[in-house]
Amino acid sequence: MTTPPEDDAPWWRDAVIYQVYIRSFADGDGDGVGDLTGLADRLGYLADLGVDALWINPWYASPQVDNGYDVADYRAIEPAYGTLADAEQLIARAHEHGLRVIPDLVPNHLSAAHAWFRAALAAGPGSPERARFVFRPGRGPHGEEPPTNWRAHFGGPAWTRVEGPDGGPGEWYLHLFDPGQPDVDWRNDEVRAEFEDVVRFWFDRGVDGFRVDVAHGLAKDPALPDLADPADLTGASLPVGEHPFADRDEVQEIYESWRRIADGYPGARMFVAEAWVPSPERLARYVSPGRLQTAFNFDFLLAPWEPAALREAIDVTTGYLHGVGAPATWVLENHDVVRAPSRYGRRPDGSVDVALGVRRARAALLLMAALPGGMYVYQGQELGLPQVDDLPDDALRDPTWERSGHTERGRDGCRVPLPWTARGSSFGFGPDSGEHADRGGSPPWLPQPEWFAEYAVDVEADDAGSTLTLLRGALTRRRALDALGEGPLTWESAPGDPALVFRRGPGFACVVNLSGTAVGLPAHEEVLLVSDPLDDGALPPDAAVWLALR
Ligand code: GLC
Repeated sequence: MTTPPEDDAPWWRDAVIYQVYIRSFADGDGDGVGDLTGLADRLGYLADLGVDALWINPWYASPQVDNGYDVADYRAIEPAYGTLADAEQLIARAHEHGLRVIPDLVPNHLSAAHAWFRAALAAGPGSPERARFVFRPGRGPHGEEPPTNWRAHFGGPAWTRVEGPDGGPGEWYLHLFDPGQPDVDWRNDEVRAEFEDVVRFWFDRGVDGFRVDVAHGLAKDPALPDLADPADLTGASLPVGEHPFADRDEVQEIYESWRRIADGYPGARMFVAEAWVPSPERLARYVSPGRLQTAFNFDFLLAPWEPAALREAIDVTTGYLHGVGAPATWVLENHDVVRAPSRYGRRPDGSVDVALGVRRARAALLLMAALPGGMYVYQGQELGLPQVDDLPDDALRDPTWERSGHTERGRDGCRVPLPWTARGSSFGFGPDSGEHADRGGSPPWLPQPEWFAEYAVDVEADDAGSTLTLLRGALTRRRALDALGEGPLTWESAPGDPALVFRRGPGFACVVNLSGTAVGLPAHEEVLLVSDPLDDGALPPDAAVWLALR
C-alpha cells in the first residue's frame, strides 16, 4: 500500500504513530549510532507492526549536546545519520510502505554552533544579529548576576554570560535548556520567517507533518520579570498567560501561521504539539481550530496505575479536546520519561518489580489502543522494554546529569539502543563486531544490559505470548474494527470501581483490571485479545481484555 500524498482525509485523527529515536533505533554503518540506513532497512518491520506513521526525533546537523535538540542547520542531516539525499529517500520509501513521516521541529532554541548564534557573538551588543536571541546585560554593579532568577530545565541558571567586545565579561543570553541551546526571540521577524521557511523546506520534501518541540515555550514576556516561584517551569503557579516563558498566549499566532502553510500543501499535513501545560483545558488552546491539529495528552502518561486517576485523565482530556473539535492523542512513553514497565512496577523503595510492571504496561497498551483518537508507540514499547536503571555514571550522556551537578541522572535509561537479536555484539543494533571490525566499528553509544536479550525483536517475534505479538494483534484489530479509532466511548463501570470497563461502538468492550483480584467479564461473544491469560474465564489483576459483544 502506498500513501497517496494528495489524499486529504484527516488521517492523524486516529493514527498509530511510532516514535523513532534515531540515535538508538538501528545502526546501519557500525559506528555505534543509529542512522537513516538502519531505519530504512527496518521499514518492513514497522509496516508489519501495523503503525501508520513515524515520528523521527531530530535528524538535523547538530553537535548532539542534547541528542539533536540543539540544531546547527535545519536544512541539513546530521552526518552521523546520513545525508539529505538519504532523508529524501527514506521519506519516499516510507511512503511506499504506507508509512507517513513526521520529523521533529525544534523552534524554541537552536544550537550554539548555528551560524546565527556565532554571528550574534561576533556582532556584539545591540546588533540585529543579537536581536534574534534574548541577550541582556546582567544585574548587579558589574552585571555579574543573571538578568532574571529563571532556572533551566536541565538545572542551573537559564542564562550564560558571554565575552564583551573588550574581551571582558559581557551580556548574558537566555537558554531554557542547556547553554548549548540558546533560545531565539519569537518577537523577531527574521526568526518567524526563518522557521516558516524551514517548515516549507521539509513539506516540499514530502514530510507529512511535524512534532513541535517545547510548543508551550516559544513566547517570552519581554519585560523578563523574575519568577515568584523559580521552580515553576510550566506555569502551574500562575494564571494563563502570566508566566514569563511557559504557555503564553502569543505562541498561538505562531501555530496559526504554520497551520496556514500546512493547509496550502496537498494531502493532510499535520502537527503534534509537545506542550507541557498544567491542564487539559490549557492544552485544548493549542489544538483549537486553525492551530495545531493534535497535542500529546501527557495527563494520561502521568496518571498512576489507579482506576480513578486513569479514568479522570481519559474523561477530562477527551472532554476538553473534543470541545474544540480535536482528537485525543494518547501516549505512555517517549524519550523523556521512564519506560512504562518501570514506572508501573516501581516499589516504594525505588526498586522495580519488572514482572508486575511489564504486566501493567501490556494492559496499558491494550487500554490505550482501545481509546478514541490517535496514539503513539515509542520504540521498544512494543517489546515491553523496561528502563535501564543502572547505567554506569561515566556512560551518562543526558545534559541533565552535568547541569544538575550529578543530582539528576537524566533520561538515558529509556534511550538505550534497541535489541533486535538475542545474539550478537550489540543485540543486532549494529552490524556484528566481526562484520564491521574493518570499518572501525564502535559499541553502541549507550551500553546495553545483558537482559536486553530477553526482549529482542527476534525472540518476541516468534513468541505468541510476547508484547510484540500482543501489540501487532491489537493494531490489526484496531484497523479492522469500526468501533476503534475515533468515536464515542461509553463507561460501563462506575467511577469508584476497581476495574475500568468501557464500550466502543455497539460491538466492542475493553476491561482493565486495576484491582488485586480477578474480575468476571461482561457477557460477550468472543475474547479478541487479552494481555495475560484468563483465569477460569476471569481477568487476572493488572490485565486487560478486548471483547466482541453480542
Ligand atoms: C523536548 C524534548 C527533549 C529535549 C527538550 C529540549 O522536551 O522532548 O528531549 O531535551 O525538548 O529541546
